[in-house]
Amino acid sequence: MMSTLESLQKSFESYFNHRHFPAVPATLYNPLEEFISNSGKRIRPILCLMGNELFDEIHSDAYHLAAAVELFHNFTLVHDDIMDKAPLRRGKPTVHAVHGEATALLGGDVMMVVAYDYLNKIENTHLKKVIQIFNKTAKEVCEGQQLDMDFEKLDKVKLEEYIHMIQLKTSVLLAASLQLGSIIGGASEHNQGHLYEFGRNLGIAFQIQDDYLDAFGDPSKFGKQVGGDIQSNKKTFLLIHALETAAGQDLADLQSLLKTSSSDKVEKVLSIYKRSGIDEWANQLKEAYLEKAYHHLDEIAVSSNRKESLRALAQYLIIRDK
Ligand code: IPE
Ligand code: IPE
Ligand code: MG
Ligand code: MG
Ligand code: MG
Repeated sequence: MMSTLESLQKSFESYFNHRHFPAVPATLYNPLEEFISNSGKRIRPILCLMGNELFDEIHSDAYHLAAAVELFHNFTLVHDDIMDKAPLRRGKPTVHAVHGEATALLGGDVMMVVAYDYLNKIENTHLKKVIQIFNKTAKEVCEGQQLDMDFEKLDKVKLEEYIHMIQLKTSVLLAASLQLGSIIGGASEHNQGHLYEFGRNLGIAFQIQDDYLDAFGDPSKFGKQVGGDIQSNKKTFLLIHALETAAGQDLADLQSLLKTSSSDKVEKVLSIYKRSGIDEWANQLKEAYLEKAYHHLDEIAVSSNRKESLRALAQYLIIRDK
């Protein structure tokens, strides 16, 4: 019997839900414990476990890898919130907002180191390949994060450049989580490759939804500040689409709003987005990448019923509200 999404979430939580850091200095470690235990969706560890279970029963090494990717992800969030000057994360004030940037930087660093402690728990047979994938992914995430910041300063970015950037900053980690799990499950290179491509395309759709929610999410559910991307002139698909389709006064307004940080900027940009037919465009984009993802899922040589949980997770990820 294959596990359900809920049962994987539960079993990961029971493996992961303990103290990860020493007691002292509490000023460094307690904020991290609190951050990690606070209601993340745990998508990457779930993908890791699903990647394993697609091919074989879940092995304890998949849990170690799942913990490593979740810790790595949490490290990127703490540093990302400094870069994005974000006040809120998972419904609470960000680590740097409460404890200062210096502690948030250091805390992120030590979370990454503890991620490597988890990697180091797995059997030797897979360790070299696992570290190679993990490190390649980590470098790509940094590259994507830099492009994301570089784009803030540009007047215009092409849709393909945006897709390239979100692939690096977000989707490769989802893809790698799946691949790492599949290695533990004994997947062939062929199957690993298609599973990675499934994750890469799904990850693009996932970030498209994240960018949509940053503009139109319900603040009581989203857990992050809504409108943050607009305030910092992030070159999301919403802005790219609006710059391409708006005309006349809307285009002139949008261009001058990009040069301001007035208090009504978010509200005004949102109304231009709405007039640009953004909902339909968002759905089209997500569907296009989901379709590419499913094409690769179909190519994986295991029976279709083993893929059900991945399909269910994919459907959830593109319509989620948090
Ligand atoms: C947030 O990731 C960062 C992005 C890549 C969009 P998640 O939406 O998975 O964040 P948590 O872990 O559930 O809080
Ligand atoms: C973040 O993208 C990607 C990483 C953390 C690597 P965002 O900046 O859009 O993520 P959120 O919206 O702050 O979670
Ligand atoms: Mg951010
Ligand atoms: Mg960011
Ligand atoms: Mg975002």
